[in-house]
Amino acid sequence: MSFRIQPQPVARPNRCQLFGPGSRPAIFEKMAASGADVINLDLEDSVAPDDKAQARASVVEAIEAVDWGAKTLSVRINGLDSPYWYRDVVDLLEQGGERLDLIMIPKVGNAADIYAVDALVTSIEAAMGRTKKIGFEVIIESAAGIAHVEEIAAASPRLQAMSLGAADFAASMGMQTTGIGGTQDSYYMLHEGTRHYSDPWHWAQAAIVSACRTHGVLPVDGPFGDFSDDEGYRAQARRSATLGMVGKWAIHPKQVALANEVFTPSEAAVTEAREILAAMEEAKASGQGATVYKGRLVDIASIKQAEVIVKQAEMIAAI
Ligand code: COA
Ligand code: MG
Repeated sequence: MSFRIQPQPVARPNRCQLFGPGSRPAIFEKMAASGADVINLDLEDSVAPDDKAQARASVVEAIEAVDWGAKTLSVRINGLDSPYWYRDVVDLLEQGGERLDLIMIPKVGNAADIYAVDALVTSIEAAMGRTKKIGFEVIIESAAGIAHVEEIAAASPRLQAMSLGAADFAASMGMQTTGIGGTQDSYYMLHEGTRHYSDPWHWAQAAIVSACRTHGVLPVDGPFGDFSDDEGYRAQARRSATLGMVGKWAIHPKQVALANEVFTPSEAAVTEAREILAAMEEAKASGQGATVYKGRLVDIASIKQAEVIVKQAEMIAAI
């Protein structure tokens, strides 16, 4: 057991991150009016090369022109292997105003990628006299990213959140699928003639959660491509929540309510958590470290589990 206390991630809701192409300013107001906790304006892969400059200008303008309310506002810049990313950072920080909260860095492969963006951002912040420090979020979506996930999670005090990007991840890993998240037809065990579907994203998600929890970063599940499949989205989101992720992307507005539904602890779960805390208070008062709640063992570890749920509910209630 380490004597180091596990650091807490930033205390803000991150149940749903709604994406929209920066080249489609007509939807910015709709994004701002949505129920998503985080808005991600995209300059990367949903924007065609010929539209990059116009999208960048539209996003820079929208940072101050649109009323984003209490939402966390994030812009996904282009990858470090592109000719666009430095201009994205420079224009966002020199012209974008103080409302911007986060820069999302896609396709990170190692800690030095974060360092490079951090150096540029730090220099521009100082030169411009910006008072609010920009935070970072990253996407793990390559073999290198998952191989170096822990050093990436530790790379900068600016880092607030880390998402799994299923599509690019699958491509980089050479996975035989064109699906974006969810159940994959060929990923099953056969038992007495019956197919049992496994989760090919599981280990990457668990690796991300452990790296994030070690370094006080929010772990987030990325996109689910088939936005006509609500049940598939729910199933994927529930698995992610069970593993410790705090939220999931929406690539269509109809997915926002689904994410909020899954990542908001239910009233029953919150009541149960409070009852467990009360049962443990009673146990402690009578000098016991463990007790029985509804026929199950609860002990000191159960207090921490219950507190996760109660804290999440309180934070969401405060929005
Ligand atoms: N955010 C907010 N509103 C959106 C939206 C978004 N991302 N995408 C669509 N809408 C709006 C539409 O303008 C439309 O509004 P209306 O009812 O007022 O006309 C309504 O939601 C229904 O849209 P729909 O016709 O079903 O979708 P579409 O064909 O306009 O767009 C996508 C579908 C997938 C192209 C679009 O949702 C999109 O670009 N998503 C994000 C993609 C992205 O950013 N990818 C990068 C991360 S993986
Ligand atoms: Mg991607």
